[in-house]
Amino acid sequence: MSDFNTEFWSVYVAGLTVVSIVACLLLLWITARGKTPSATADNTTGHVWDDDLREMNNPMPRWWMWLFVITIVFSLLYLVAYPGLGSYQGELRWTTRGEYDAEVQQANKELAPLYAQFTARKTEDLAGDANAMAIGERLFMNNCAQCHGSDARGSKSFPNLADADWLYGGSPDKIRETITQGRKGLMPPMAAAVGTPEDVRNVAHYVLSLSNGPHDSVRAQLGKTKFTACAACHGMDGKGNQAMGAPNLTDDVWLHGWGEQAIVNMITAGKANEMPAQAGKLTDAQIHVLATYVWSLGNKPAPAKP
Ligand code: HEC
Ligand code: HEC
Repeated sequence: MSDFNTEFWSVYVAGLTVVSIVACLLLLWITARGKTPSATADNTTGHVWDDDLREMNNPMPRWWMWLFVITIVFSLLYLVAYPGLGSYQGELRWTTRGEYDAEVQQANKELAPLYAQFTARKTEDLAGDANAMAIGERLFMNNCAQCHGSDARGSKSFPNLADADWLYGGSPDKIRETITQGRKGLMPPMAAAVGTPEDVRNVAHYVLSLSNGPHDSVRAQLGKTKFTACAACHGMDGKGNQAMGAPNLTDDVWLHGWGEQAIVNMITAGKANEMPAQAGKLTDAQIHVLATYVWSLGNKPAPAKP
């Protein structure tokens, strides 16, 4: 209901609900008011089916009427207690969301002892624990695979987590920080700062030259001077800046696509990319296990101590 910006639909729906219930009561009352006079002397309505099946002219049975009344009373009590009348939330303030949160909290409480043995251990050591990594993999499948892929290798705009290339850093602490608080990678549209569309193409060729990709060296030379507009984030050498998630442009890992057109698009349109924060969704212990799992994809655990 909060999707509407006026109260009208809420009142409309609540009104319809109440009118329907009152109409049921009225119908019950009218039909129960004593019996209609019989057309025939033997107390039947005169309707006959299958030769001898006659319809009696009796009032509705009491028990049936009481069931009806109980249903109506129940519906009124229900509508006071639970959400059902337009946007009215109900006296009990019950929500599916609240019920879900309570179940998650309960499950987390039950799982706490299991996770307690993991939280005390450092990532480098925990990564060698097959049990912890199996849990990490399941957490990853349930919470991360929809974006990063079930093999964690990502796809266009969703980074590969199994390689050694990191936007924000691949140390256990950085990975945990990324998962906990999320990340917002923001590159503003830069075309105006670069100059004409020709200048933009020249910069794109300069970027291609940084990773020794096929490029036009004359354009690259011209574009080099314009790259100062990019240096604040990507660095004068184009090697990027993990503090702000600006990618390294000199390697052959391309998050948003490779080639002149892809780079021209980046410069012209910019990009706002987001990794959603998991802090409210997963517990610190779950995030620790997940961060360890992600770290283990590209690193070897410390050898077990004898
Ligand atoms: C809704 C899609 C989505 C989900 C779900 C998601 N991520 Fe991400 N993640 C992204 C995007 C997009 C980025 C890149 C952000 C950027 O470009 O600044 C990212 C970045 C990251 C990074 C940083 C990579 C780097 O190179 O520094 C890590 C680590 C990561 N995610 C781990 C996870 C884990 C673990 C989960 C599961 C709890 C998860 N992500 C769930 C979309 C998602
Ligand atoms: C304000 C900082 C900022 C500036 C200025 C900036 N960028 Fe970026 N750039 C970023 C960030 C952050 C990303 C990563 C976006 C994301 O998280 O998905 C990015 C991504 C890119 C990518 C995509 C890399 C890939 O792996 O797909 C290219 C190409 C790029 N920038 C080129 C440039 C060029 C050329 C300029 C100068 C004209 C420039 N950027 C200026 C911050 C910046």
